[in-house]
Amino acid sequence: MTTVSIIGNGSMGTAIGGIVAAGGNTAEFIGRDSAQQITGDIVVLAVPHPALADIVAQRGAELSGKVVVDITNPLDFTTFDSLVVPADGSAASELAAALPDSKVLKAFNTNFAATLAAKTVGQNPTTVLIAGDDDDAKLALAEVVRAGAVPRCAVLRRVRRRTSVWSEATDSWPPTRQPHSGEFRACRR
Ligand SMILES: NC(=O)c1ccc[n+]([C@@H]2O[C@H](COP(=O)([O-])OP(=O)(O)OC[C@H]3O[C@@H](n4cnc5c(N)ncnc54)[C@H](OP(=O)(O)O)[C@@H]3O)[C@@H](O)[C@H]2O)c1
Repeated sequence: MTTVSIIGNGSMGTAIGGIVAAGGNTAEFIGRDSAQQITGDIVVLAVPHPALADIVAQRGAELSGKVVVDITNPLDFTTFDSLVVPADGSAASELAAALPDSKVLKAFNTNFAATLAAKTVGQNPTTVLIAGDDDDAKLALAEVVRAGAVPRCAVLRRVRRRTSVWSEATDSWPPTRQPHSGEFRACRR
């Protein structure tokens, strides 16, 4: 069983916690009190993008060695017309640089809280995209998501750039690597 610590219990934190629990895993909610210890090996930062810097400052050492999941959409909330990260960067790559001893993933940011909770988008099953540089970390999170009855996960290669190349969908699990690029195939179950 995996313990997933979730910082932030708003719309997204609650929906992700529901998926974790539905899979028989443990969701541990962490609030703003930095005295509350993080026990999970996977830590989801279900907070607004500006809060990432606070969490790194308060909990950077505690997050060492853990899988840290960035779900933020780094919008400029003053204008709602641009992002606050550079065009050739990403929130997750900045977080990875700030947490060099953690395994940083990007996930859930393309889902709405409601479609995570419902596990469907209209007639279709919800798909969770997971990007990151650490293969074991991506697969660990994908297993938790799949166990929670969100059957479609697409495991993407990197967090260093904003866009990742989608690869061919396959029905096999775990996703296999493409021989020419090392890219995981997207997995559709
Ligand atoms: N809502 C969506 O459908 C959606 C979809 C995709 C991505 N996202 C992303 O998901 C993230 C969370 O969105 P949300 O809709 O769940 O927001 P939300 O409902 O407003 O919840 C935010 C949570 O973060 C907590 N928080 C804020 N600053 C914190 C800090 N410094 N330390 C610890 N906890 C802190 C808040 O705690 P308090 O209650 O104490 O303020 C609250 O529990 C955002 O980055 C958003 O861009 C949201």
